Amino acid sequence: MDSEPRELVESIERNGANGSLVSALEDIQAQYRYLPRDAMILVSERLGVPLSQVYSVATFYHAFSLVPRGKQTISVCAGTACHVRGAVQILNRLESTLGVGAGGTTRDRRFTLETVNCLGCCALGPVLVLDDENEGQMTTTKVDKWLKRAMRQVEPVLRPSCAVRRP
Ligand code: FES
Repeated sequence: MDSEPRELVESIERNGANGSLVSALEDIQAQYRYLPRDAMILVSERLGVPLSQVYSVATFYHAFSLVPRGKQTISVCAGTACHVRGAVQILNRLESTLGVGAGGTTRDRRFTLETVNCLGCCALGPVLVLDDENEGQMTTTKVDKWLKRAMRQVEPVLRPSCAVRRP
C-alpha cells in the first residue's frame, strides 16, 4: 500500500483516545467499504490492541468486511416465498450479468451481490434490494431493465484499493 491517508490516522488516534476499537474499524469500513489488512495492523499498533483481537472484532460483526465491497449492495431474498417464486432465476441472471457469484463484488467495485433471508415482504416476492430500496415481483426480464438503470446510477470505483502506508 502506497500512502497513509491523514484522515485515517487521525480517526484511529481520535478513536484510540476514546479506546473504541469498534469505532476505529467503523471509520475504516466507511472510508474503504472494507477493512484492509494493513489498516487493521495500523489500528492494532495505534490502539495497542493485539492484532488477534482486531481480527476477532472484525470477523464477529456482519457490518465489517475483510474483502473489498461494492459501492452498493444488491441483496436477493432467498427466503422460502421468494425461492418458490423464482428468486434463483433472478440471482442467476444477476450473477451472469454482473460476472460475480453471490457474496462477490464486481471488478469495478460498483456492486456487491449477496443473498439474504426473508425481508418480511413475501407477498412481493421475488424481492431484491439495492441498498435500502426494495424491488418486488421481479422477473428475469424486469431484472435486466432494473440492473441497467442501477448501473447508470452508480459510477465505477476508480481507486482500485485502499492505499495505506504503515509508518
Ligand atoms: S421470503 Fe422473500 S420477502 Fe419473505
